[in-house]
Amino acid sequence: MSKTHPLGIDVGGTGIKGAPVDLDKGEFAADRMRVATPSESTPDAVAEVIEQIAENFAEQTDGQPIGITLPAVVTHGIVRTAANIDSSWIGTNVEELLSDRLGRAVTVVNDADAAGVGELHYGAARNNDGLVLVSTLGTGIGSALLNDGALVPNSELGHLEIDGHDAESKAAESARERDDLSWDKWAERLQRYFSHIEDLLWPDLIVVGGGVSKKADKFLPQLHLRAPIVAAQLQNAAGIVGAAWLADHAVNSNGHHS
Ligand code: BGC
Repeated sequence: MSKTHPLGIDVGGTGIKGAPVDLDKGEFAADRMRVATPSESTPDAVAEVIEQIAENFAEQTDGQPIGITLPAVVTHGIVRTAANIDSSWIGTNVEELLSDRLGRAVTVVNDADAAGVGELHYGAARNNDGLVLVSTLGTGIGSALLNDGALVPNSELGHLEIDGHDAESKAAESARERDDLSWDKWAERLQRYFSHIEDLLWPDLIVVGGGVSKKADKFLPQLHLRAPIVAAQLQNAAGIVGAAWLADHAVNSNGHHS
């Protein structure tokens, strides 16, 4: 039988996407599967979709762990916030729920943290000592802080209060669409956002991810920051790849997963 791989699954507001990940290359080992997020995105409804995806890749991922991202703070397997998902997730021990249901080791992680880990090992944050901020611009703003290659989880820098507003409500990609902003106008908001972060954290590198990073040439050149600011390289694959990496690491680093 051919080599099996860990499975990465990215749970988003509109789609739930998964693929087996070849960790030698940081690439999908098979075509990604996408299922629309159930309109009532409760833990049970989402678990059902995750089960479908796991079954679809049963052969390619046999005996391997599963890494799952959520757009939420996750500490010790328990969901703590729900800014853009159903509030019934809060307090759920998702790692327990899903590993019982799937009969596999499951690691659950914040979506931006997973993307950050993907970029750290295979993308734009590779070979960077010091402090790297990976910022995902989408429905919300996610953040991953990587210090000398170590993830500081759940940094939630999208919710900094800036000029009296929750920053993501003004500077996320969804705010650009909602307010019908030109790239230049949106770049002004991003300038305000990233320069505030720079004053607090002094990162050595800023990596911008999320679907809009494909169009980075439309807004990154307008930004003037102390640190270099670059587009993510794995784009929408980063979360799936990072989740699979973390799941594999959780199983193989200490013989058990938390
Ligand atoms: C959530 C974060 C998440 C980000 C991107 C924010 O609203 O609070 O946990 O990483 O959106 O999905």
